[in-house]
Amino acid sequence: MSERVVLAYSGGLDTSVGIGWLKDATGKEVVALAVDVGQGGEDMEDIRQRALDCGAVEAVVVDAKNEFAEDYLMPALKANAMYQKTYPLVSALSRPVIARHLARIAKELGADSVAHGCTGKGNDQVRFEAAVAALAPDLTSIAPVRDLALTRDKAIIYAEQNNLPIRQSAASPYSIDKNVWGRAVETGFLEDPWNAPIEDLYEYTMDPSVLKPADEVVITFTAGIPTAINGKAVTPLEAVEQLNILAGKHGVGRIDVVEDRLVGIKSREVYEAPAATALIAAHEALESLTLERDVNRYKRGVEAEWSNLVYDGLWFSGLKRSLDVFIDDTQKYVSGDIRLKLQGGRAVVTGQKSDQSLYDFSLATYDTGDTFDQSLSKGFIEIWSLPSKISARRDLGA
Ligand code: ARG
Repeated sequence: MSERVVLAYSGGLDTSVGIGWLKDATGKEVVALAVDVGQGGEDMEDIRQRALDCGAVEAVVVDAKNEFAEDYLMPALKANAMYQKTYPLVSALSRPVIARHLARIAKELGADSVAHGCTGKGNDQVRFEAAVAALAPDLTSIAPVRDLALTRDKAIIYAEQNNLPIRQSAASPYSIDKNVWGRAVETGFLEDPWNAPIEDLYEYTMDPSVLKPADEVVITFTAGIPTAINGKAVTPLEAVEQLNILAGKHGVGRIDVVEDRLVGIKSREVYEAPAATALIAAHEALESLTLERDVNRYKRGVEAEWSNLVYDGLWFSGLKRSLDVFIDDTQKYVSGDIRLKLQGGRAVVTGQKSDQSLYDFSLATYDTGDTFDQSLSKGFIEIWSLPSKISARRDLGA
């Protein structure tokens, strides 16, 4: 049997040509793997057939939507994960799950390598290869676009010459990656950060400047995870899908940012992530209600570190695993209901309640029923400010 390579297959031009290109350049048989992470669009069976028509010896489709939601998106939600405080890690979260299946299929079908359609300039190449390295250290990674000189022009010519069944649609000027957590759009006229995004770019969100009557939604969390929406039980995947529609209708979760790639380039990115944005806003509020002050404060730092690791392709790393243990432990009491008002591009928390709430009305109130003994504050402040007072005496020479 000749050697085999498992290619992460999207059904698009680059990976379709990649099948024959890889075979010609390496002599290996190509197995195509299409992983459904909720990217929508084409039927996965059509994609599978196209891979075979393009010369794959085998084509495998994996429906990873639930796995993606449960094992990747929920940890991200518990971590309120936002790279550089703005990007909910849409693509960064999908790469490790795709890589996991690449490594699994490679083992099952006796392949010695895996391949992906990434260029040599982005984060995704790092994420695929670092994940595969951590899961199956013996596999080699090949990137035809980066390693085998597969340029877009050559891909178009190759597809024509070989009669590949690819609808070369009025080629989109954008590079788009999407899954159920959101959509990433880059390149084209967006490469000039002075150019404002146009309405055409968006698919998951409607124009927030066209104001609609506000909608309210109540999200119930159990130990950090959404378990009901407006009182109806949901799986993690259903929660994300439903909130994409509810929040997307009001244009929630549009993001336009110049971001720092791991490879050192600054790039202009437009994202839309309605469910992620709404869920993280709600989850953060519930944490403020239920977590001890120090835990909440410390966790914000852990969240930034977690987001950096995941952005940088270190999903399957020791530090990330350890941080997950910390984050999971904090979620024990993060249960309750958050009410969001959705309108004009914003998801605003308007109500919060929890059986695990640390909010104590009798301590907080300024009305009758106040149980907080204000006289104790005087002594507390004396001691609290003592170090400042002593050092100030020295500093001021008093
Ligand atoms: N900059 C984002 C990230 O690194 C999005 C990448 C999108 N990928 C793509 N092929 N368009 O996570």
